[in-house]
Amino acid sequence: MSDETPQDDVSPSDSTDGDTKQHIHVDSYERNWIRISIGFLVFFVIMITIAGLALGIQVPTDEGRVDPNTLDTAPFWSEPGLREIVPGEEYEVYIVARRFSFEPRNIAVPKGAHVTFWATSADVQHGFALEGTNVNMMVIPGQVSKLAAQFDEPGEYDFICHEYCGLGHAVMYGTLTVEP
Ligand code: CUA
Repeated sequence: MSDETPQDDVSPSDSTDGDTKQHIHVDSYERNWIRISIGFLVFFVIMITIAGLALGIQVPTDEGRVDPNTLDTAPFWSEPGLREIVPGEEYEVYIVARRFSFEPRNIAVPKGAHVTFWATSADVQHGFALEGTNVNMMVIPGQVSKLAAQFDEPGEYDFICHEYCGLGHAVMYGTLTVEP
C-alpha cells in the first residue's frame, strides 16, 4: 500500500471533521498496570532520596589507588589506625585488610565522633561491614574504599569481613568502641 493512500492518514490535525477525532484506547487492565508501574518508580525515587539525604546512606566511592605491594611505605597506610582530625568530633581510620585480620583490630572513638573509614587490602578481596551503621564496603587490593559514619550511641560495634577470602575468613573481625 502506498503512503499516499488516504486511509493511512489518521493524523487528527489533518481532519476537519470532529467525528474522526482519534482516541488511543488503553485497556483498563493494562492502564492499571501502567499506574502501578509508575507508582513503583515514584516510590523508589522517594526511598532513594530519603536514604541518601535523611538517613545518610552512601555508596562507597572509589577514592583512588594504592599499590598493595608498597603499603608498608605508603603515606597513611604504613601506619594504619585512628587519626584525630578535630578532637572529640572528627576522626579518620586507615584500615589494612589482609588474610585474616584487620589492622587495626580495635578502634576506640568518643561519643559523637564522626569517623571516616579508609580501607584497602594487602592481598585478596575482603569486605568491611560495621554493624549498626551504613559502613559496608568491599576492600580490594590496589583500590581505596571510603565511607563515613556518625557515632552518637556508646557501645561496642563489631566489624567483619563479609567477602569470602579463604580458610580464616570466619575469624576476620574487629571491634569499634564508642566511649561515653
Ligand atoms: Cu577477609 Cu573474608
